Amino acid sequence: MTPIAQNKQENPALHFPALQPPRRYLFGPGPSMVHPRVYEALAKPIVGHLDPYFIQVMGDVQQLLKPAFGTSDGVTLVVSGTGSAGMEAAVANFVEPGTKLAVFANGYFSDRLTEMARRHGANVVRLEKLWGETYTEDEAREFIGREKPKVVAYVHAETSTGALQSGQAICAAAHDAGALVIADCVTSLGGVPVQFDQTGIDVSYSCTQKGLSCPPGLSPMAMSPRALDWLRARTSPVRSWYFDLKLIHDYAAVSHRYHHTAPISMFYALREALLVIAEEGIEKRWERHRHCHKLFVQGIEAMGLRMHVPEEHRIATLNTVCVPEGVDEAKVRKRLLDEPGIEIAGGFGPLAGKVFRIGVMGPLATEDNVQFFLKEFKKMLS
Ligand SMILES: Cc1ncc(COP(=O)(O)O)c(C=O)c1O
Repeated sequence: MTPIAQNKQENPALHFPALQPPRRYLFGPGPSMVHPRVYEALAKPIVGHLDPYFIQVMGDVQQLLKPAFGTSDGVTLVVSGTGSAGMEAAVANFVEPGTKLAVFANGYFSDRLTEMARRHGANVVRLEKLWGETYTEDEAREFIGREKPKVVAYVHAETSTGALQSGQAICAAAHDAGALVIADCVTSLGGVPVQFDQTGIDVSYSCTQKGLSCPPGLSPMAMSPRALDWLRARTSPVRSWYFDLKLIHDYAAVSHRYHHTAPISMFYALREALLVIAEEGIEKRWERHRHCHKLFVQGIEAMGLRMHVPEEHRIATLNTVCVPEGVDEAKVRKRLLDEPGIEIAGGFGPLAGKVFRIGVMGPLATEDNVQFFLKEFKKMLS
């Protein structure tokens, strides 16, 4: 065997040091901190994507997702890809060319939904509000009653603004009009209640890298019995083969025939993340996040700062704090990253330069971590 060259000229690999990612406190909107048990799961040996062991892992994940989504009647499954893959799957499967889709627009991700739906040939109608505002039941009823869409879409936790949209108001109005409801729960699942059945959602997608304390890479989904009937009744083929939910469901839960090579290690990770959540108890987890959110807001207000979203519409896991007059928010973020290694995010679109976006999720949602963050943040502002 030829010996491995030990000088950089003959062996270019020696130009690249071993991976040594900096230690960060991920207080941004996501990715959030990964639970140590999830890292351990990622290191386990892989099996094949058709191996009975992996089929069992997929089954476990589907089962563990049910309490996280809050569904007993619905079907849960996982799309390979980040949260946007779930969004694309929801749009591709429930929209056909010409389908009227009503979007409750109030931030960046409702715009992304609009763009995807238009690319899939939907006739998109939008109700517009400023970034950070939410919709009331009366507004939802008026809009849906006027437009009579076949499908309605909203973002439950709008990451670009920090606002939480109540789903009940929208779902009740949509169902009265015979429309199906798609809810983006990318930032809510695992951190704040989704309550899929109780709210009346028909299709929901999320991600792994926020409230579930797992790396990015998968998109958990839930579908109501109505949504399944809708899929069965669909006459035109789903334009995206990869995101065809009937094919994915068949592989994951029915025939287990090959659809795609599922990312095995990410399924291990998600299974472990969901087990960690099940052991804590989903309601206790929501309560822990709510408690830390309150402490966070108290600390922020004690510094004389303001929150962007009114109290009753805030996402417990993602805070938007108004940038005080005269403060360069980019500089604050850079110093936080360079010195204590804390990542937070700024605003974008109409909120560029106006808000800090600060996530308090998963392992970071403890009293000590909130106090640690507030102390460092205060230092950087002064
Ligand atoms: C509300 C919302 N929807 C969709 C997405 C897209 O998810 P991803 O970046 O994982 O593709 C995000 C990402 O932050 C999000 O916050």
